[in-house]
Amino acid sequence: MLCLRSATQDQWLARAIANTREILMDHAHCERKAATQALMLLGRFPDAEALVGPMLALAREELEHFEVVLALLRSRNWPLDSLIPSGYQAQLHAHCRKQMPGKLVDLLLVAALIEARSCERFKLLSEHHPDPELRAAFRDLLEAEARHHATFVRLAHNWADREVVRARLDELAHAEVVILEGMPPLARIHA
Ligand SMILES: [Fe+2]
Ligand SMILES: [Fe+2]
Repeated sequence: MLCLRSATQDQWLARAIANTREILMDHAHCERKAATQALMLLGRFPDAEALVGPMLALAREELEHFEVVLALLRSRNWPLDSLIPSGYQAQLHAHCRKQMPGKLVDLLLVAALIEARSCERFKLLSEHHPDPELRAAFRDLLEAEARHHATFVRLAHNWADREVVRARLDELAHAEVVILEGMPPLARIHA
């Protein structure tokens, strides 16, 4: 699915369903972080004109998602707490090159992979979670995350040829599989 090089295991789904509050809290943090990361890219690469429109739109949409997930938590009387991050994002970012233009290409492709993994896992939750309201919420969100994945890959083409983007995305997708395999068994969207 998308550019991913592995399918999520059944154990992840069972853990997510058994720890729904934690998964929703993590999901809320993911949406807020996605908005923050989009704005951070604009701050780090202020001359990258092609990023401006898509990142502003993405930040707005991720903030809307954040509100949706906060409402799901509130309606269940589950206050949002801070969570220990799984380390997934940090480990993916460690694979990014340090020099331009590879640096920006990699940051965009890592963002694309994070969106792809969210999308894949939201699909599982939209099909298998016992709570119909949550199934519907995940179904609504997964379409947007698939679109965000495509946006990040498309943007990378501004700084690298098509073949280079394809090869690098594949390398990073393989790294993502290794990172996931080494994750602690936490109830997180990306663990
Ligand atoms: Fe989102
Ligand atoms: Fe997204």
